[in-house]
Amino acid sequence: MSIEIGEKLPNVELKVMGDKGPESVQTDDLFTGKKVVLFAVPGAFTPGCSLTHLPGFVVQADVIKAKGVDSIICTSVNDAFVMDAWGKNQNADEIIMLADGVGILAEAVGLEKDLTEVQFGVRSQRYAMILDDGVVTYLGVDDKGVEKSSAETILAQL
Ligand code: BEZ
Repeated sequence: MSIEIGEKLPNVELKVMGDKGPESVQTDDLFTGKKVVLFAVPGAFTPGCSLTHLPGFVVQADVIKAKGVDSIICTSVNDAFVMDAWGKNQNADEIIMLADGVGILAEAVGLEKDLTEVQFGVRSQRYAMILDDGVVTYLGVDDKGVEKSSAETILAQL
């Protein structure tokens, strides 16, 4: 069962790339007291995520932030080196690339996706959330396409 609107994001420890390598971060520190857009993808550098999903947020980042959003966070079940390289490759300077290396967040929010069939292992579903002080106020999960989790949909929800 997945997290629902009105529920608080569980606190988990994940990784972001720092100046000297991957650094631990608590999700509570990223979300508490802030309005945050979080979106998750099945895999860095995959076509759907690289051609459509992440670029939409890169293009709309300023507009989203102008609507009172403190941070935009992209997460995937990939390590911090991959997430950092993907963010640089996509010019995602305004987006925090949050590495959920072993799927702790995906499992904690009940939004894992078993992609063993294509040798990806267990990843995250594609989704986007708006969170206010860590509490989910919008959740859109996409099985195919990015209808409910795109930057445009998030903008319409803000
Ligand atoms: C994608 O293009 O988004 C994708 C490709 C393979 C596995 C998962 C996602």
